[in-house]
Amino acid sequence: MLTVAVLISGAGSNLRALLDAAADDDYPARIVVVGADREADGFAHAEAYGIPTILVPFREFETREEWGEELSAQLRVWQPDLVVLSGLMRLLPPGMVAAWAPRIINTHPAYLPEFPGAHGVRDALAAGAGQTGASVIVVDDGVDSGPILAQERVPVRPDDDAHTLHERIKPVERRLLIDVVRRIATGELDLAAASDSAR
Ligand code: GRF
Repeated sequence: MLTVAVLISGAGSNLRALLDAAADDDYPARIVVVGADREADGFAHAEAYGIPTILVPFREFETREEWGEELSAQLRVWQPDLVVLSGLMRLLPPGMVAAWAPRIINTHPAYLPEFPGAHGVRDALAAGAGQTGASVIVVDDGVDSGPILAQERVPVRPDDDAHTLHERIKPVERRLLIDVVRRIATGELDLAAASDSAR
């Protein structure tokens, strides 16, 4: 059974979907802890499933590295095989990436390498893109630049705003995430190999 830590900043709807999937006896992964950089509404989903939470407030640390070291130390207590960034609105410091790589993955609401960064949905709209998408990647030191594990296109409609478009992307993100975690758990997807072949 693959043990998973999930890091969030917000509502945690993708976290909820992964928790629901992992509640199925046939699903080969279990979420062992949920962490956040702030008081995140999504903690409620962890609590509903009786899963422990760790809060490491970014603003209480002098540097990103110190924050990452504390977050890593608290995560290590739960010995996760995999760390999933699901709406964590912080860049991880290089030291933390190095400590966990290649066992950290991230979901992103765009078809990478198109529209990386914190505003992938808004940027796709601003660019007048006819389609965007969702991606799941391995985290590296760049901004949404790691090896792509899965991705799918989502059309942009003429009357879309950032909210309607994001709400159409999120179910795709969830489906891809649940499938990627399943494939990592079964060994069908090898994160070390995916990272090596991207070098
Ligand atoms: C997702 O689209 C994620 O990729 C983006 O923020 C959203 C998270 O939503 N960065 P939620 O917290 O899972 O509801």
